[in-house]
Amino acid sequence: MKEINLSTKIAVYLLEECTNREKKLIESAKSATQRAYAPYSGFRVGAAVLLDNGEIVSGNNQENAAYPSGLCAERTTIFFANSAFPNEKVVAIAIAAFHKGAFTTDVITPCGACRQVLLETEKRFKSPIKVLMYSEKGVYVVNSIKDLLPLSFGDEMLR
Ligand code: THU
Repeated sequence: MKEINLSTKIAVYLLEECTNREKKLIESAKSATQRAYAPYSGFRVGAAVLLDNGEIVSGNNQENAAYPSGLCAERTTIFFANSAFPNEKVVAIAIAAFHKGAFTTDVITPCGACRQVLLETEKRFKSPIKVLMYSEKGVYVVNSIKDLLPLSFGDEMLR
């Protein structure tokens, strides 16, 4: 028997340690939480995407009475950005969550399906996406979604 050990390095920053561009992206994700449509969970997630042309596109979770018909903030935002700017590379995404009257003290991390979509977006633009996961206590940062999705499935398997 052999073992494979997978490890991920995550940078943990205080908000004040982030660059101004990162702070702006995080602020945009935080304010997007307030426009979420989350009447069922009350869990308001906001995301903001930075495009190569400097444009910031934000979005949030959109729920539905038929629960699986809703969509997470990350995918809403990525699809929104890619549909408006199909040729602009996605450089970074910030995510924040607002629950029970406050921003969460635990970092908000993308669900598995959103990680898969972020991976596809990296492959589409042939460029890694920095992921900034916000909490009131600190920000987790990875330089590529691959760090959050080991052993991923991608288009190369279909060739
Ligand atoms: N949600 C997101 O929008 N992003 C995540 O990373 C995790 C979960 C949404 C889906 C649902 O509307 C609510 O949060 C509760 O799961």
